Amino acid sequence: MPAKNVTVNRAALGHRLAYALRHPERVPRHVVRTARDAWLRYRSPDHVAYYRAVMRSDTRADPNAAVGSSTRERWLALGEMQFDYLLGHGLLPEHRMLEIGCGNLRAGWRFIRHLEPGHYYGVDISPDILVAAQETVVNMELQRKLPTLTPVGDLTLRFLPEAHFDVVHAHSVFSHSPLPVIEECFAHVGRILAPGGWFDFTFDRTEGEEHHVLREDFYYRTETLVALAEKYGLTARFMDDWEKLPHGQSKIRVTHGVREPHPA
Ligand SMILES: C[S@@+](CC[C@H](N)C(=O)[O-])C[C@H]1O[C@@H](n2cnc3c(N)ncnc32)[C@H](O)[C@@H]1O
Repeated sequence: MPAKNVTVNRAALGHRLAYALRHPERVPRHVVRTARDAWLRYRSPDHVAYYRAVMRSDTRADPNAAVGSSTRERWLALGEMQFDYLLGHGLLPEHRMLEIGCGNLRAGWRFIRHLEPGHYYGVDISPDILVAAQETVVNMELQRKLPTLTPVGDLTLRFLPEAHFDVVHAHSVFSHSPLPVIEECFAHVGRILAPGGWFDFTFDRTEGEEHHVLREDFYYRTETLVALAEKYGLTARFMDDWEKLPHGQSKIRVTHGVREPHPA
C-alpha cells in the first residue's frame, strides 16, 4: 500500500502526464475507464445513479475488485484491518452496527460474525454489490447471524429508527462521494446514532486543493469535513492512530456534539 500523498493534485494535467510517462502500461486501461465513465455520466447525471452504474459495471467483472481489492488476499487483509481497528476501539457483540456502503462485506462478514444475531445492518447504493454480499454471507456460513442488507437511494437514513446504532462505519465510501452526499449523511446520521455512539468514516485526504478524478475519487481537506459535521451539531475528530496503518486513506470519527448544559 503506497504511503499517503496528501499534496498532489491528481486531477492536474501535469500530474496526469507525468504519471502516464512513469506508467505507460496503465494508459490504455485509464483511457477505457475514462470513456466508460463519460458514457455513464452522460446517461446518469445524478451522482448516486452514476456511481451505481460504475459499481454495476465493476461488480460484473469482479466484486472484490469493485470494492477496491485486486486480489483475495488484499480483500481479506483490508477487511481485517477495519475489523481489528474497531475491535480495538471497543466494538462489542451487543452493539448495533450500521455499515454505510457495505460493498460485498469485505469487513462486514467479520462484523457480522462478531456481533449478536440481527445486530448488523448494511446499506449500499448498488444492488449488484449487495447480491455479491449475500454470496459472502453464504460462503462464510453466517446465515444464522441474520444480517440485514438493504439498497438505498440516498443517505437520509429515514427508514431507520432513532438513536438505534452504537457504531456507524463507512470505509472508502466518502472517497467516492461529492460533498453534497457527505453533507446529506451528516445532516441525518445524528438522528440514528445511539447516545454515546460513534460514526467512523475514511476519506482521501489532501492538504492542497480539493479535487476529484473522473468523479470516482474525491480528495478533501480534513478541516472541510470537520466543519461540515459541526454544521449539523456533530463533533468530528481526526483519528491519528489510523494513520499508522498501511492504508492510503485517513479516518474521522463523528459523535454527538457536546450539548450546552441547560440553564438551572
Ligand atoms: C470502495 S467500496 C467499499 C466497500 C466496503 N465499505 C469495504 O470496505 O469493502 C465503496 C462502496 O460504497 C458504496 N457507495 C458509494 N457511494 C455510496 C452512497 N452514497 N451511499 C451508500 N453506499 C455508497 C459503493 O456502492 C461501494 O459498494
